[in-house]
Amino acid sequence: MPKITISTLDRMKAAGEKFVCITAYDATFARLVSDAGAETILVGDSLGMVLQGHDSTIPVTIDDMAYHTECVTRGQPNSLVIADMPFMSYTNTEQTLHNATALMQAGAQMVKMEGGVWLSDSIHSLVERGVPVCAHLGLTPQSVNAFGGYRVQGRTPKEAKSILADAVEIQDAGASLLVLECVPAHLATDISSKLDIPVIGIGAGAGTDAQVLVMHDLLGLSTHTPRFVQNFMAGQESIADGLAAFVQAVKNGDYPRNEHTYE
Ligand code: KIV
Ligand code: NA
Repeated sequence: MPKITISTLDRMKAAGEKFVCITAYDATFARLVSDAGAETILVGDSLGMVLQGHDSTIPVTIDDMAYHTECVTRGQPNSLVIADMPFMSYTNTEQTLHNATALMQAGAQMVKMEGGVWLSDSIHSLVERGVPVCAHLGLTPQSVNAFGGYRVQGRTPKEAKSILADAVEIQDAGASLLVLECVPAHLATDISSKLDIPVIGIGAGAGTDAQVLVMHDLLGLSTHTPRFVQNFMAGQESIADGLAAFVQAVKNGDYPRNEHTYE
């Protein structure tokens, strides 16, 4: 796989080809994810849970994210590397620019932030300064306390309308990608077809332009897994084979299936 850029992902969306994102937090796994053919790697703040053992992503710091982004990029993956801005590291434009600098200088090619309309100014400022942005809508885990738990979002017409409005707004502000997490499949399909930018789904059905899973979940290492997770290590002999099985399943349309989807 040649080095992936946002142009590659735009071309894939236009051609109707699904692409894949897998989280990674270190050099060895970044290499494995790239060799498995996943076009994008997310250095997710999910590391707060799967690496650090916290019960949410809220304790993760910008220093944690910069450290793991450096580890990932030292693996020299051909996948495009997206790094999460952690909880409360992007509350205003000045703080956002400062913290995005740390992640870009650690080797990220794009930063990801949870939120919609309220992020517009920050997204615009980052993009003007050469920092590509991925937004994240739906179940945004940094807001778990406001949601009252990890719950599917966008089930009511009012919520669905507001998620769609947020998606359009972040695209207009200049975002390059959107992650949609735990929303009904019909809403994710609708948003993916209305937006020009690629949409990466997790627990959002088969209608998005791409799929992402947390590596530990798809390798069957997590104890409590939500409905949308499949263990891709089943029947495989190596981690490399398990990762490749996920990549192939997304590209062939074998994942996600109805049993992984919310309606
Ligand atoms: O932190 C993470 O791994 C994420 C994905 C689940 C989208 O944000
Ligand atoms: Na995240």
